Parts: sequence; C-alpha cells; structure tokens
Amino acid sequence: MAGKGRFITLEGGEGVGKSTLASALEARLVARGLRVVRTREPGGTSGAEAIRRLILSPPPNVAGWEPLAETLLFYAARTNHLDNLIRPSLNAGSWVICDRFSDSTRAYQAAAGHVPGEHIETLDKICVGETTPDLTLVLDLPLSAARHRMAVRANDKDAIEARAQKYHEDVHQAFLAIARANPQRCVVLDASAAPDALAKAAMAVIDERFGGGR
Ligand SMILES: Nc1ncnc2c1ncn2[C@@H]1O[C@H](COP(=O)(O)OP(=O)(O)O)[C@@H](O)[C@H]1O
Ligand SMILES: [Mg+2]
Repeated sequence: MAGKGRFITLEGGEGVGKSTLASALEARLVARGLRVVRTREPGGTSGAEAIRRLILSPPPNVAGWEPLAETLLFYAARTNHLDNLIRPSLNAGSWVICDRFSDSTRAYQAAAGHVPGEHIETLDKICVGETTPDLTLVLDLPLSAARHRMAVRANDKDAIEARAQKYHEDVHQAFLAIARANPQRCVVLDASAAPDALAKAAMAVIDERFGGGR
C-alpha cells in the first residue's frame, strides 16, 4: 500500500449505527491492505478517555456540566487525541476512522446546548487547525428508530443520552444542517439501511472521494 492517510469521521445521534459502521469500514479498508486506526470521541487516548468519563459520568455532586464547561472538556480531550493519536497516525500513512468529532460538538453543545457557535469555531481553529476531516459521513435516522435501537442495546443512559427529547431532536436537525452547509466534506447516509448495505454505501462514497482507497 502507498499514499497518505485519510481522516474520516462518522457523525450522528446515539443509536444511529456509527460504531457498527466504524468497525465495518475498518474491516473493509484493512482487507484492501490499508493501515487503519479506528478511534472515537470523546476519548481515543488514555488521557482523553479519562476526560470522557468526566463528561459522561459527572461526579455525583456535580449537577451536570454547564454547556461551556462541557465544551472545554471536549476540546481538551480532542487536543490530546489529535496530538497523541490522530496526527501521528495520519503522518505515518494510516487511515483514521473516528467515531464522532467536531461536528458532534457543533450539534450537541452549540445547536442543542446553546453555546455560541463562534466560540466553538474559535476553539476548533486553535485545537484542530488544519487537521479537519477529509470526509464526514453523517448517519441520518429518525429519532424514534434510534431510540428503538438504543432500547435493544439496553445500557444505562449516560449524562448526554439522558437529556430531553427536544435536545436530541435539535442534535439530529443540526447534523443535517452541518452536512448541508459543508457539502465538500460531508455526505449524509440513510442509516435505516441494514448494516451491510450501509457499509457498502459508505465504501462507495470513499471510493468516489479517494479513488478506491488506493
Ligand atoms: N444499520 C443498522 N441496522 C440495524 N441495526 C443497527 C444498524 N447499525 C447498528 N445497529 C444496532 O443498533 C444499535 C446501535 O448501534 P451503534 O453502532 O452502537 O450506534 P451508535 O454508535 O451510533 O450509538 C446496536 O445494537 C447495533 O447492533
Ligand atoms: Mg457508538
């Protein structure tokens, strides 16, 4: 294999199938002889995973992080993740598949949590800089279908999953708006497709964008 690594992010609400698609894409790209690093946000490095636990399970005496505090925790985690895993992997020629990235902060903390969008763009310039994704796949699924999948998964809800229905509806609409505003980077996929069909559709986008991943 030759060539440079590509940075692909998967976005969408809880239960839309991001993690399932991330492993399917990893398998398909590895089968082509590519080196692939599959990672997630918040997290991906030991430092960022520690921050993930703080975000998703706030200490018992914390009523919940204020939206701005939560945003700063996400960017602290993202900076650590970029410095210690994402950039070194891309520089070494690996493809990086990241389950959630900056668009999740835009959708959750800005659109649904009402942190001013320009604050997030400022932080993004500082922390992400040039390392913006080459491709973002936005998984689109009605909230009711995503809820149904989550119920089957039956884990305890974390601090963000537990927020009101309106918050999650705002998140869903925000992801679609982000994709519309960034057509050169984002592609919306119908996430109601079966896992294999969704992976095929995602690979078709990757082939179209990157010339067959070769
Ligand atoms: N394309 C799909 N069609 C049907 N069920 C799916 C699909 N993708 C994932 N699932 C199931 O839905 C649940 C949530 O999927 P997951 O990949 O964990 O979503 P996310 O990472 O977006 O929260 C899991 O039980 C998973 O097996
Ligand atoms: Mg997941």
